[in-house]
Order: sequence, then structure tokens, then C-alpha cells
Amino acid sequence: MSDTLSGNIDEIIVDPKTYGDEHSYHRAFDRLRRDDPVHWTEPKDYRPFWAVTRHADIMAVELNAKNFLNDPRQFLVTRADEDLLLEQTGSHKFAHNLVAMDDPEHRAFRSLTSAWFGAKSIRGLEEEIAALARETVDRMVEMGGSCDFAAEIAAWFPLRTIMIVLGVPREDEPLMLHLSQKLFGSVGGVDGMAGMVDAFNAFNDYFGKVTEDRRRNPRGDVATILATATIDGEPIGEAERNAYYLIVAAAGHDTTSSSISGGLLALIQNPDQMAKLRADPALIGTAVDEFIRWTSPVKHFFRTAVADCEVGGKQIRAGDNLMMCYPSGNRDASVFDDPYAFRVDRPDARKHLSFGYGPHLCLGNALAKLEIRILFTEMLRRIDDFELAGDPAWVEASFVSGLKHLPIRYKVRETGA
Ligand code: HEM
Repeated sequence: MSDTLSGNIDEIIVDPKTYGDEHSYHRAFDRLRRDDPVHWTEPKDYRPFWAVTRHADIMAVELNAKNFLNDPRQFLVTRADEDLLLEQTGSHKFAHNLVAMDDPEHRAFRSLTSAWFGAKSIRGLEEEIAALARETVDRMVEMGGSCDFAAEIAAWFPLRTIMIVLGVPREDEPLMLHLSQKLFGSVGGVDGMAGMVDAFNAFNDYFGKVTEDRRRNPRGDVATILATATIDGEPIGEAERNAYYLIVAAAGHDTTSSSISGGLLALIQNPDQMAKLRADPALIGTAVDEFIRWTSPVKHFFRTAVADCEVGGKQIRAGDNLMMCYPSGNRDASVFDDPYAFRVDRPDARKHLSFGYGPHLCLGNALAKLEIRILFTEMLRRIDDFELAGDPAWVEASFVSGLKHLPIRYKVRETGA
């Protein structure tokens, strides 16, 4: 890895292009971890913040939720977009959902669905997800040996799973995909805040109708929990309910699909690791952790300090914002042995920070891992000889990003399903 960096590091940290090129990202953040791991960042178009780049410092901030609040800043938004948001919604906050809440409110809202998303309860979805995985691989078989894996396969599988979770009918899935990609593509991407507000309003209209339906026809899905939820005996507010639908609908698929397509790319680029996983399918659990560490689909979240304190030897003032740089923490050599090596049997893979840490730890982490495990098990059982059929391309966005194109060729095994 090169020692030199061209350009202004503060601009590199916020530039969406950095996130569309993993080498640029890691070159910049490697240097930060070494030279200035808690870095005061003053980019031209954004309010300043501390970039927290080491694993231990990110964990320390996430664990101290009393001093580091999620309110009021959650992710990178330009000053211009913050102003536009204020003008359009009357608030700097995009949505009052779990990632924007702090205790005691966060605890109350999270506990509405935390049992549903727990590892034990999620296992109840295993059969349905396995059926989806079979259907997904059937589609790869029908495609006859080549596809754009990111756009045609990985984008759809987690979306369908989330739609099962929410009870959204199949015919509405393209709309959900479009809206959530617009939402995430806009955050830290090229469309800016206008695209985000449009997508947000369209989600609200859609889930307003879902709420009415579940009140009349309750089912076992998350939509029913949200439609009928109460806290301290009072129904939850409409804005909070819509924001909850939105985060469940949007947080669960671009993230998971990035780990699926990035995991496959890493296996193709490391044939010894592909061979190892094929030879010992019991490694799949560790391999899934490694896919998620390797890809780190969520590039950051922010916290805001309540009181003056110290992080990584730097004096932080009350009101300062801190950006937790997850992919950087996931390449920290003080935690991960040879962090730039992709290993399906990596014993320390589970220490990754891709799901965050502490009270806001990804609510869907068990679901994401289950989905990825089931899909790869099915794919590796039925498909051989994966190879690249063109250049991969990444989404350029500083909040959530991953592969948007992964052209591949493959051979279907004679034994079939
Ligand atoms: C590989 C896939 C995924 C990744 C990398 C990921 C990553 C993250 C991260 C980094 C956070 C913030 C954690 C923090 O602040 O400490 C988060 C929160 C969250 N995620 Fe995920 N996520 C994934 C899949 C999912 C899925 C499948 C769902 C399904 C519902 C989901 C729903 C949520 C929700 C609701 C939150 C907010 C939790 C809170 O603030 O209490 N995520 N996720």
C-alpha cells in the first residue's frame, strides 16, 4: 500500500468517489489510522467532524451511548442539502427512526421488534428464505451461464427477504427497490437531498396503506407489529411508524446485497479461498462473517458528544460530531491478522464492525447472516467455475455502497438441483 496520498485528505474522506474505489479508500484510511487516527476533518461543503478510524476507538464511542448520541447528526450530508432539508421538512433530521433516536426512546422503539429480529425467531424464516435461494439459483441456471450478478441476482434476493419480513406483495418489489436505491444512492451520492426527500415521501404513502390493511387484517409480519404498536399504552406516532417501516425496508437490502456480490467477487479473486470453502462447507458461517468484514457496506455513522471527553488521545468538545469509519476499523491490523487478506476461515472475522456495535448494533444482523449463508450454500452446491466476465463497478456513495455491476460467467453443475 502506497505511503503517499495526493489531494486534501479532508476532501477525500467525504468524496463519494473515494467510496467507489476500495483502493483509494484504504490508501487514505490506512494513512489516517497510522498518522492521525482521530482526525479533525473540515471539508469545504460539510460541517466539520472527527473521523474515528481505529477499531478500538470506534468501539469505545459506540459503547458509550450516554456520552455519544445519535441525535442530531447520523450521516454525511452537505451543508447545502442540510439547508434544503430544513426548508422542505422543517428539520435537519431526515427521519425520526431508530438510528436517529437515543435512550430512553431508542430502547422503547427497538424493543418493539427486537424479539422478532432475534437469531432464534429469525430461524423461523429459514424455509422461506431457502425457497427464495433455490428460486434465485434457478434463475442463474436459466440465464445460461452468465449474468450481471450484482444487478440481476444480489440486488433482488435480500429485497425479497425484507418484503417477506414486511409482508409486501411481490408486485410491489420493483417499487421498493427503486425507492431504497434512490434513497441510499442520494445519501452521500450524486442526486443529493432532493432525490432523498422524494423517495421518503413515496415510502410514506405506500406504508400508510400497509398500516390500514394490517389493522384490519393482522398477520405475523413486522408490518403488523408496527401498525398496532403501543409504547406506555399509547399508539406510536404516524411519523415514527413510517420512519420505522422505512428503516426496515431500506436498511436491509442494499447492505446485504453488497455483502453478497462483494463476497462472490472476493471468492473469484481468491480461488484458493473458493476451493477451501467448497472443500469444507462447514466454514460457511465464518466465511459469511468474512464477506461482511471484507465488504463493510455501511461506510459510516455519526455520533455527537454530550460532554467534553477524550477519544484516541484527542480532546473532544461537547457538541462535536464523530464519524465512525467502519471499513477502516475492519482493516485495523491491531485486531485483524493480515487485514488485507481475504480468508474464509479467518478466526477473527467475527470482530468486524460492519454491523456497528453496542445499543444500535444492526437490528437485522442475524437475518443478514442467515440470508447470505443460505444463498451461498445453494449457489456453491449447484454452480461451478465462477469467473469475471467484465469489469466490476461500484456505487459512488459515502454512506452505503457496494458493487453495482459484477459481470460473471459460471457453469451449472450437471447434477442440477
Ligand atoms: C450485511 C448487511 C447489513 C449491514 C452491513 C448493516 C449495517 C448496519 C449498521 C452499521 C448499523 C448501525 C449500527 C450502529 O450504529 O452501531 C445498522 C443498523 C440497523 N440495521 Fe443493519 N445492516 C445490514 C443488514 C440489515 C438488515 C437485513 C436489516 C433488516 C431489517 C437491517 C436493519 C437495521 C436497523 C433497523 C438498524 C437500526 C438499529 C438501531 O439503531 O437500533 N440491517 N445496520
